[in-house]
This record gives sequence, structure tokens and C-alpha cells, in this order.
Amino acid sequence: AVNRMPLIAGNWKMNLDHLQTVAFIQKLHWSLRDGGHTEGTVDVAVFPPFTDLRTAQTLIDADKIPFALGGQDLSAHDSGAYTGEVSGAFLAKLDCRYVIIGHSERRQYHSETDEVVGSKVQAALRHGLVPVICVGETAEDLEEFGASAVPVSQLNVALESVPADAEIVVAYEPVWAIGSGQAATPDQAQDVCAKLREVVAAKLGADAAARTRILYGGSVKAANIASFMREPDVDGALVGGASLVVDEFSSIIRYQK
Ligand code: G3P
Repeated sequence: AVNRMPLIAGNWKMNLDHLQTVAFIQKLHWSLRDGGHTEGTVDVAVFPPFTDLRTAQTLIDADKIPFALGGQDLSAHDSGAYTGEVSGAFLAKLDCRYVIIGHSERRQYHSETDEVVGSKVQAALRHGLVPVICVGETAEDLEEFGASAVPVSQLNVALESVPADAEIVVAYEPVWAIGSGQAATPDQAQDVCAKLREVVAAKLGADAAARTRILYGGSVKAANIASFMREPDVDGALVGGASLVVDEFSSIIRYQK
């Protein structure tokens, strides 16, 4: 994570309604404060369900809580007859800074192809959102092609037509490691994250590659976060289950202590 601000991101998936979200954000904020967390050493972002974003924004704003907000998905379209979709324009209006795109659960349960992911990346950039582009191989892919081939090809498509000066975040999430309790090893994560950085370099240039944060995701917890963060090409984590437990997520954010 040479010269890159680490980013610890909590993907809450379909958990926590808007009331639970308020309580959670407050408790996390207090826990970090009491734990001596100092702002400016790591960026924190939370990704609640869409229905929670307005309430979360109000709280973060009123209490000056140093967490960035993000959506878990967005529409490839900006507005119109797309029932059930949420536009990047709406997320931007709620002060979202980030949006997760191409999470493996979207790819798997909502048939999102690499091309759909690519058009959502364009939509995010149109609205000034930072896309958190998720890539990763399934257990079958791993067996058949090794770890990096699928994520590398997914990222290549996602970065098609992305301008060199765009801010993006890449998240390497091996599907077999998500929610399984079986995280990749730091070596495995480093290996793929380094290859993903090469993709960013080839597509967007050396400056973008040096600047872009690449996260690891998949069974990250307080006990293993530091081992990932020691790797030179791992700049943070996208955390699922462990981001739903205040003390655990707080410890992950304070991994430097
Ligand atoms: O997006 C984060 C996620 O897919 C990882 O989930 O529960 O293995 O931390 P988890």
C-alpha cells in the first residue's frame, strides 16, 4: 500500500434496516473514537442498503462522522422507465462517494455480465461516483484457469473506455472466499492484486496504477486484516460479514494498532 491511503469498506449486503443502520453507525463511531482511531490514516466507507442511505447521510452529516457512504449497486441508466432501478444521480445527491459494481452476488443472482458491469462503471463516473469494481474467480474457475485469469479478464472489460484520470477502486474478491470463513492467503491476494494493478497500468497508464486502490475481500476479519495489509499491492479490504459486528469492524479499521 505504498503511498496509497488504505480503504476499509463495509458491504452490508441486504442487512440492517434504516433504524439499525443509525444505531450501528453511531456505535461504530464511538468505538473508533474510544479505541483511539485517528482520522487520516485510513479511509472508512460503509455500503448500506439503498433504503438506509438518506438516514445514514443525515446522521453522518449532523454528527460529522468521518465515514464515506456508498451504494451497493446502481443502474446503467440515468433515469427513466427502469422499474426498481436506482440511478447514480440519486446516489450522488445523497452524498455517496462510492458505488460497488459487479459484486459476485450481482453477477451470480442477477446475471450481470462483464459488459453490464462496464456500462455501470460508465454510469458511476458520469455522476462523479467512485466505482468499486469487484472481480474474482469461482472455485471452478480457480481449478480450471488458476486464480488470476478470470479477475484479469473481468477488469479488462470493466475498464474499457474509462479515462486515465478517473478515480476507481478495484476489489479482488475470490468467490470461494466470500462468506466461507476460508480467506485467501495474503500471498494469493497479493499475487492477484499485483496482476490487477498491471491491468490498470495497461489500460489507464502508470500514474493511475500507482494511485488506484486495490482491495481484497473474502472472509476478512480482525484476526487476518493485518496480514493482508502488509502486502504491497493490497490497499484495503471489502468486508462483508465482519462489517456487521461493531467491535469486529472497529478492530479491522484499527488494524494498525
Ligand atoms: O463484498 C464483501 C464480501 O463479498 C465479502 O464477504 O462475508 O466474506 O467478508 P465476507
